Formats: sequence, structure tokens, C-alpha cells
Amino acid sequence: MARVWDVPTRAFHWLLAALIGFSWWAAKFDHLPWHRLSGYGILALVVFRLIWGVVGSPTARFSAFLRGPRAVIAHLRGEDEPTVGHNPLGALSIVAMLAVVAAQVGLGLFSVDEDALEPGPLSHFVSFDTGRAIAHLHHKLFWVLAGLIALHLAAIVVYRLRGRNLVPPMITGATPVEPGVEAPPLAPLWRALPAAVAAAGAAWFVAHGLKVI
Ligand code: HEM
Ligand code: HEM
Repeated sequence: MARVWDVPTRAFHWLLAALIGFSWWAAKFDHLPWHRLSGYGILALVVFRLIWGVVGSPTARFSAFLRGPRAVIAHLRGEDEPTVGHNPLGALSIVAMLAVVAAQVGLGLFSVDEDALEPGPLSHFVSFDTGRAIAHLHHKLFWVLAGLIALHLAAIVVYRLRGRNLVPPMITGATPVEPGVEAPPLAPLWRALPAAVAAAGAAWFVAHGLKVI
């Protein structure tokens, strides 16, 4: 067994999954204040993950798992070297999910609801009609996100059917490795603290309509 996912990456993952579910529920059942709060939480998580993708453990770094098309094809053919961490194909789906989640939050921030009682915190930068058009896109993009999540879960099922269960490592952080495969050491936990403070600060600033006081 080798330690593959650090605590911050795992915490990020399960919080993101929970808050996306909660955001959907809160929007569906007209709890827009909760919906917005949950959205700020997701914003903080995405900012945190972007920072952690630069300063985090080797397996969390974008530079380690973002690979070119040749690596993706080699992986599909089963010709890649055994390593720990995201495979080149999974990495594409991760980037797509992060980008769509960020866009979904971005649109939400400018969205105006039908009666303009519970608008997003940046909607004062746009007219009512533009805010409504953005809300329309926000509704549509949700289905793109839902599609990517369905694909994510389907991929996990496919790996399971082929004999690899990816889920326990995302819970415990440890994964079985083939003999000779080394897992690089994880980043120290304290490093997540300044990243989390910066991410929370950024989300707070946005939630307050980009005003300091
Ligand atoms: C709203 C739902 C979800 C979203 C948006 C989501 C998103 C993500 C993201 C962004 C990553 C990359 C982690 C990182 O490096 O930061 C990831 C990885 C992963 N997710 Fe999810 N996830 C969701 C639900 C789930 C669920 C329900 C499961 C389990 C059944 C799951 C299992 C996994 C696993 C096993 C990985 C690691 C894949 C690998 O080994 O490369 N995810 N997910
Ligand atoms: C800070 C972030 C966010 C803000 C400020 C925000 C804001 C809003 C607002 C104002 C509406 C109402 C639009 C209307 O009445 O037409 C809305 C609806 C909606 N939002 Fe968000 N949102 C955010 C993040 C998210 C995220 C991350 C998701 C993904 C789960 C999401 C999914 C939805 C859905 C599905 C609806 C439509 C609900 C329905 O009418 O059935 N939002 N959002």
C-alpha cells in the first residue's frame, strides 16, 4: 500500500461532492440564501484546489497529472507505465469538472432570480435582463455539470468492473501498488492552512460583491 491522496485533496473532493448535491437541492426547493452560501463554499473549494494544484502533494499537482494526447492514447491502449495518482484520461475529466464547476459558480454570481429578491452578489454589475439571461445559462450549464458527474461515476464503475476499486483510496488515502512502484512523499499538512485561508478570503470578498467593507 502507498499513500496517494493527501488529506486536503480528499477533504476537497468529498466537500465538493456534498456541496454540489446540496446546491442542487437548495435551488430546486427554493432555498436561495442556502444555495448562495453553498455556492460560496464551492468557490472557496475551487480556489483552494487551484492553489493546492501548484503547492500540494505531487499527486495533487496539475503539472504531474496533466499530460498530452499521446499519454492519453497510451493509457487507453493499456501501454502506460504503472504509476500512482490520476491517470491521463481521468485528469481530463477532472479539469473539465473543475472548469464547469467554476463557470457554474461564475454565472451564479451574476444571476438574477425572477423577482430579483435573491440575486447573486455580483448581479449589480449587470442589468436585470442580462442577469436573467445569465440565470438561464446557469440553469443550462447545470445539466452539463450533471453529465460530467454521471461520466465520472460511470468511469469509476468501469474501473471497478475491470478489477480496480478507486473509491477506497479517495476515502483512506492509501492505494495498493505494484512492486517497484514508488509513491512520492505527500506535502506537509500545514501547507494547506495558508491555501485555505487565501481561498476563504477570496470567496468572502466575492460574496460581499467585491467590496472590502
Ligand atoms: C458531485 C459529485 C462529484 C464531483 C463534482 C467529483 C469531482 C471529482 C474531482 C474534481 C476529482 C479529482 C480530485 C482531485 O485531484 O482534486 C475526483 C476524483 C475522484 N472521485 Fe469524484 N466527484 C464527485 C462524486 C464522486 C463520488 C460519489 C465518488 C464515489 C463513488 C467519487 C469518486 C472519486 C474517485 C475514486 C476519484 C479519484 C479518481 C482517481 O483515482 O483518479 N466522486 N472527483
Ligand atoms: C455562488 C454561487 C452561486 C450563486 C450566487 C447562484 C445563484 C443562483 C440564483 C440567483 C438562481 C436563481 C435563478 C432563477 O431564479 O432563475 C440559481 C438557480 C440555480 N442554480 Fe445556482 N448559484 C450558484 C452556484 C450554483 C452551483 C454550484 C450549482 C450546481 C449545483 C447551481 C445550480 C443551480 C440550479 C440547478 C438552479 C436552478 C434551480 C431551478 O430553478 O430548478 N448553482 N442559482
